[in-house]
Amino acid sequence: MRYVQLGEVPRKHHIQFRQPDGSLYAEQVFGTRGFSGPMSTLYHINLPTEISGFEDKGSVKVEYLDDEALRHRHLKTAGMQPHGDAISGRVPLMGNQDLEWHQLVVAEQMETFYKNSDGDEILFIHDGSGELQSMFGTVKFLPGDYLVIPRGIIYRLVFDSLPTRMIALVCYGPVEIPKRYRNEYGQILEHAPYKERDFRAPDSLPVHREKGEFQVLIRARNRHTLYTHPYHPLDVIGWDGYVFPYAFNINDFQPITGKIHMPPPIHQTFACHNFVVCSFCPRMLDYHPQAIPVPYNHSNVDSDEVLYYVNDKFGSRKGIEEGSITLHPLGIPHGPQPGAVEASLGATRTEELAVMVDTFHPFKLTKNALEIESPDYWKSWQTKRS
Ligand SMILES: [Fe+2]
Repeated sequence: MRYVQLGEVPRKHHIQFRQPDGSLYAEQVFGTRGFSGPMSTLYHINLPTEISGFEDKGSVKVEYLDDEALRHRHLKTAGMQPHGDAISGRVPLMGNQDLEWHQLVVAEQMETFYKNSDGDEILFIHDGSGELQSMFGTVKFLPGDYLVIPRGIIYRLVFDSLPTRMIALVCYGPVEIPKRYRNEYGQILEHAPYKERDFRAPDSLPVHREKGEFQVLIRARNRHTLYTHPYHPLDVIGWDGYVFPYAFNINDFQPITGKIHMPPPIHQTFACHNFVVCSFCPRMLDYHPQAIPVPYNHSNVDSDEVLYYVNDKFGSRKGIEEGSITLHPLGIPHGPQPGAVEASLGATRTEELAVMVDTFHPFKLTKNALEIESPDYWKSWQTKRS
């Protein structure tokens, strides 16, 4: 990402840094890929290693359906009922060896803090607002925000109001800015659809000195373990480095437009291991006088393509609604439904807003997905014959 410093840090790393009572702050080097990846250095009031107990909370391994027939899928999340908090309310819909897709309609505030050590998280906030409170400080969030939380960060979400609809992607590999958007120094280039200022790092660092019993639910090895600390886990006086949680709002994505139809990679927002996350945003459409603004049929023979429709205005799709998810699996072509090409001619603008995840390994669905599936979606490409 980039270098950020927040709060108090000593003149150099790994030297004595004392609290007002003369005791040493506890330094923690926080890396997400050993000692050769991005790192930050934090200074705690308490020992981050000290716990007063732990409790096994069981497996969180997602169970997938096997041996399903190949077909286009349409899931409707609009009817999902509010349930649980931002962690317990996660409903896994699909996943593979690289990521899990969880859908949420959050009903409750989080009572414990959370740490996902199995993967980086991308949380997409469909509606609602609030604060991401973390050991790195606070990031305020708004509708349309992607919250990127690197693995191992202790956090909780505090919502201004509930219920809130959101997606939680658990990414087993790192979440990064695509390399083609950056120069050799890591800086974001002028042709990229965003700049550093669009990425909102924590901007305040409330320091908690409270003692007592504080719980952190840790996901690691596909299990939840509930840790109890004798101090508040957000006890960091300062930090610096390249690892921290941040927000990026989908409305800050600057769409790249062209004379004729531009391919999906221009919408790429994040690069992940074996998958990408793209943002389809309101924009001017192609300006060639004979342009066809909706996409051509395409054979994504090596890529599963999942779209989450943040609104119901998607030019090439019929029959979708706000909160719909379509899965166009690898192995068969997809494209606009009959009539969509003709209907698009002459259009100068689209108001579509959608999040896309393209994977190189097939997604498997869960039983939860079947419960919200619109099973006749595959018929939506049938042309009517008299
Ligand atoms: Fe596509």
